[in-house]
Amino acid sequence: MMIKQELKSVLKGIDQSNGLPNRNYTDNIQYNIEKKLLIFDQWAGVAVSEDIPNVGDAIPITFVGVPLLLLRNEKRELKVFLNVCRHRGMILINKPKNVSGAIRCPYHSWCYSKNGNLISTPHVGGPGKNIHKGINKEKLGLLEIKSHIWQNIIWININGNAPAFENYMTDAMKRWSDFNQEQFHGGEDSKFQLKVKCNWKLAVENYCESYHLPWVHPDLNSYSRLQDHYNIENPGYYSGQGTLLYKQIKGPKNVKFPNFKNLSEKWKKSAEYLAIYPNVLLGVHKDHTYSIILIPKGPNKTIEKVDIYYSKKITDTNLRKRNTKQWKKVFKEDISVVEGMQKGRKGIHFDGGKFSPVMDGPTHCFHKWVASNLLTEENNLHEK
Ligand code: FES
Ligand SMILES: [Fe+2]
Repeated sequence: MMIKQELKSVLKGIDQSNGLPNRNYTDNIQYNIEKKLLIFDQWAGVAVSEDIPNVGDAIPITFVGVPLLLLRNEKRELKVFLNVCRHRGMILINKPKNVSGAIRCPYHSWCYSKNGNLISTPHVGGPGKNIHKGINKEKLGLLEIKSHIWQNIIWININGNAPAFENYMTDAMKRWSDFNQEQFHGGEDSKFQLKVKCNWKLAVENYCESYHLPWVHPDLNSYSRLQDHYNIENPGYYSGQGTLLYKQIKGPKNVKFPNFKNLSEKWKKSAEYLAIYPNVLLGVHKDHTYSIILIPKGPNKTIEKVDIYYSKKITDTNLRKRNTKQWKKVFKEDISVVEGMQKGRKGIHFDGGKFSPVMDGPTHCFHKWVASNLLTEENNLHEK
């Protein structure tokens, strides 16, 4: 009951509400509840298409405890399956590889096509008999996870119960429709990962807001000041911030990255940063975009996977490296505050905190999404 009241308090207007209570950041049981309601029931980001570039590439990944297999089939389509054999539940693929023929289970050699169809079952009907009437191959393909690619991200809905991706993501897709064009990953020098000792939600919350800019990112603030930023809130879907004065990185002789094609007037000066609930943080600028996928590793551990994209394949390598370095510096500057907030959640009398009614709108928007999803389940339990 107390839990319900605390969550209801989050749903109040921003000037009345408190933030989510400590347990939502520290408690194992709560983490597992949120795993289902906030990640498995939603469209979550798991990887980027650049991670699986070639036909036959098979990448095993454990996402929030679930063993998944990312696979590119002969038609170059990206498929996501459970990385689990339909016979006795053996893990099919242990490390990234390129599969030229079929995917063979190392245990009893059942084989699957790159589309996930079960194609052979040696000796299943006894020695020398590779079929049996009780084994219907058509019904025993790999278990597929609903997936969709947008902004180079592989989004998955593990529980298969979310609305169709295009319907769910309509507003975000519309908002950034100008960037719905080919984007080229910068390659090895344009990806990195950071390990942070905090709950994944704190990384979302910190990303949403620009309030911390003057103190946590003094360099960034020197050319992109607090007063040049605006809040973005789309309750139930995403929140974030934008800047009205994006300053493009430049190399010697004023060399710049080429801009994306046919951008509208707004993007000449603006850049935007959205946290798409639950776990994808995106940034768009006229000359490059990036994504950060948050991979929760427990209540107080998260991996941030960063990938940067450009409008053309060949860009200035040095400038590209400088851009990566610049973003890495900014994202590293955030580590001490997200980890500090995580430690703060051990403060037993902390009440979730008081939002600035003006500056913390995007964070409150995210908290409301969390609380309402958790309360929906609670209501369902009461009705049962
Ligand atoms: S568990 Fe895969 S073939 Fe037996
Ligand atoms: Fe920051």
